[in-house]
Amino acid sequence: MKNTVSTLLKQKQSGDKITMLTAYDYTTAKIMDECGINSILIGDSLGMVMLGYENTLPVTMADMIHHTAAVSRGAKNAFIVADMPFMSYQVSVEEAVSNAGRLIKEGGAHAVKLEGGAEVCEQIRAIVNASIPVVAHLGLTPQSVNAFGGFKVQGKTLENARKLIADAVKIQEAGACAVVLEGIPAKLAEIITEKLVIPTIGIGAGNGCDGQVLVYQDMLGLTTGHTPKFVKRFAEAGILMRQGISDYIQHTKSGEFPAPEHTYAIDDEVIRQLIGKEE
Ligand code: KIV
Repeated sequence: MKNTVSTLLKQKQSGDKITMLTAYDYTTAKIMDECGINSILIGDSLGMVMLGYENTLPVTMADMIHHTAAVSRGAKNAFIVADMPFMSYQVSVEEAVSNAGRLIKEGGAHAVKLEGGAEVCEQIRAIVNASIPVVAHLGLTPQSVNAFGGFKVQGKTLENARKLIADAVKIQEAGACAVVLEGIPAKLAEIITEKLVIPTIGIGAGNGCDGQVLVYQDMLGLTTGHTPKFVKRFAEAGILMRQGISDYIQHTKSGEFPAPEHTYAIDDEVIRQLIGKEE
């Protein structure tokens, strides 16, 4: 079944949790789609997990379009959401609409996601008016890492929590079709989820949200180093990959690979004539 803005809304209404994962390439998107994921996010987290940057700030429109198009070719049923990278929507409303349009036209996304509350409502309204669904993103919004002074949980003080609730209402009024709530206390996410008609999709925001999203490298155990508290590792694919790659190196060096079953045959007669040997 195709996942759309309406099916996601119905899921909220019926209490059927929305599943979303990030993906950045054709093969991964195809596997997720075949598993029945509701939505795939081409997150600007690709800056870190695919391109090796320290944060999401250097990611460009060209990066996002390139990866979104690959995911779109792999996923047939998932609702595809593409992140708008840093500075692709902040400068002007016109630029925001034009860049959102590129992610749909050139990337094949069904919706775009952008970070922020009241300050981006004008952009949300204009993009929605261009018939492009917008997913908002509140809380620990990674593009504001420098303004926050690091990746810090948001909404812990009364003032900050009130602002997040107000922002959530504003982005809904501006026309957002869903909102990602990242890095906020679970109880606050629950309050926001109850207040909104549109679905909330949480990451580090507890299980009171209408759905969940994770970066796939984190949940499949591909990332090394510090694992954030909110990540559950559903598989240890990194261990499997290391094992497979080490075996390949060892078998290639020992000559075990390629074996006859991995090899193309040729008629002996052709070889005889080729090297000019008389029997
Ligand atoms: O870029 C991203 O992957 C995201 C998710 C963490 C929600 O925005």
